[in-house]
Amino acid sequence: MKKVEIVLSSLPMSGGDGPNSYSKNSHLQRRTTSLLKEAIDKLIIEKLDAKTLISGSNNTFRIADLGCATGPNTFFLVDDIIRSVETNLRRSKSTKPEFLVYFNDLPENDFNTLFTSLPRDGSYFAVGVPGSFYGHVLPRSSVHIVVTVAATHWLSSVPKDVVDKSSKAWNKGKVHYSNAAKEVVKAYENQFGRDMGKFLEARAKELVSGGLLVVGMCGIPKGMPFSNLADGIMYTSMAEVLIQMQSKGLITEEQVDTFNIPIYSPSPEEVTFLVEKNGCFTIESMELMNPAAWLKRPMNVEDVRQWMVCIKATMGSLFINHFGDHVLDEIFDRLTVKLVGLTEKIESSYREKLMMFFALKRK
Ligand SMILES: C[S@@+](CC[C@H](N)C(=O)[O-])C[C@H]1O[C@@H](n2cnc3c(N)ncnc32)[C@H](O)[C@@H]1O
Repeated sequence: MKKVEIVLSSLPMSGGDGPNSYSKNSHLQRRTTSLLKEAIDKLIIEKLDAKTLISGSNNTFRIADLGCATGPNTFFLVDDIIRSVETNLRRSKSTKPEFLVYFNDLPENDFNTLFTSLPRDGSYFAVGVPGSFYGHVLPRSSVHIVVTVAATHWLSSVPKDVVDKSSKAWNKGKVHYSNAAKEVVKAYENQFGRDMGKFLEARAKELVSGGLLVVGMCGIPKGMPFSNLADGIMYTSMAEVLIQMQSKGLITEEQVDTFNIPIYSPSPEEVTFLVEKNGCFTIESMELMNPAAWLKRPMNVEDVRQWMVCIKATMGSLFINHFGDHVLDEIFDRLTVKLVGLTEKIESSYREKLMMFFALKRK
């Protein structure tokens, strides 16, 4: 069997601003951003020596949002950060700096939509930075705050072994490590370890000493099986839908067996280990938050539909690149019907501490 490596450069969110676009269907991610607002504000006010940082940088304060997508969530996030930095500086009676914001995402991201919807109030200068955040994307010792929301659970690629027929981690007939063999879980965990290691190395180069790295991403309590989560139920259903479609001859067995979603939810303990291994940061905050009841109790059919529209806008291109765009709607229509029939199971899934927030300070 041909080895298939899905690299993340093939994963842009749905571009434009049409009804199926990411910009119109990113309210799940927006909840993450709103939830983080208070924590980020507190962090900036209490832990950042903004006065010293701007005095060493020609009165320019530099912020980077990594994995910004097409907006608008990134704009809310950047505005909140700028307001918190201004509050911090007012308290230390410093002059107002100029702000420069780097918007980073993969090169295939729809930067046109991002920049055409950029707020034009002149509160900051904006720069687009195409490239993977698993590499070095910004000048050395140049940024004061790096933030990334709902992005670093995307791995740089599908772990190689899960698509290798001769490996114990071959993930036949499944699309994720949820409900999969322990070797598959390990392969994903190892891939995350390598990726987060590179991510931290790159940020250590780019942040100035005293600068902050703020991350909001999917997380999970240590030891909890992913299959306990609503997303776990979704991935199992996705695999079932693909197998049904294979039996109808709409897609091939090889396509099903080589399709895996490169998303991983780490525990705070795993991230702490990787940060300590890197050695360039102090941990200012590391916690799992409750992403709130984004699926209401009791759930209705519309909740499931909305959930699937968001997932399609976020993951659609993965399916298109692998199966072709002619089957995308059918996959998601079938998946929606299947999940509507599983609302009770989804309601009783674990939904509490699934959002990881961590903040690091560059030593
Ligand atoms: C779910 S979106 C979140 C976007 C935005 N931060 C928000 O909260 O709405 C994840 C984004 O991360 C980007 N991304 C994933 N992996 C990346 C990588 N290695 N380098 C840069 N961007 C990446 C994706 O292209 C996508 O735009």
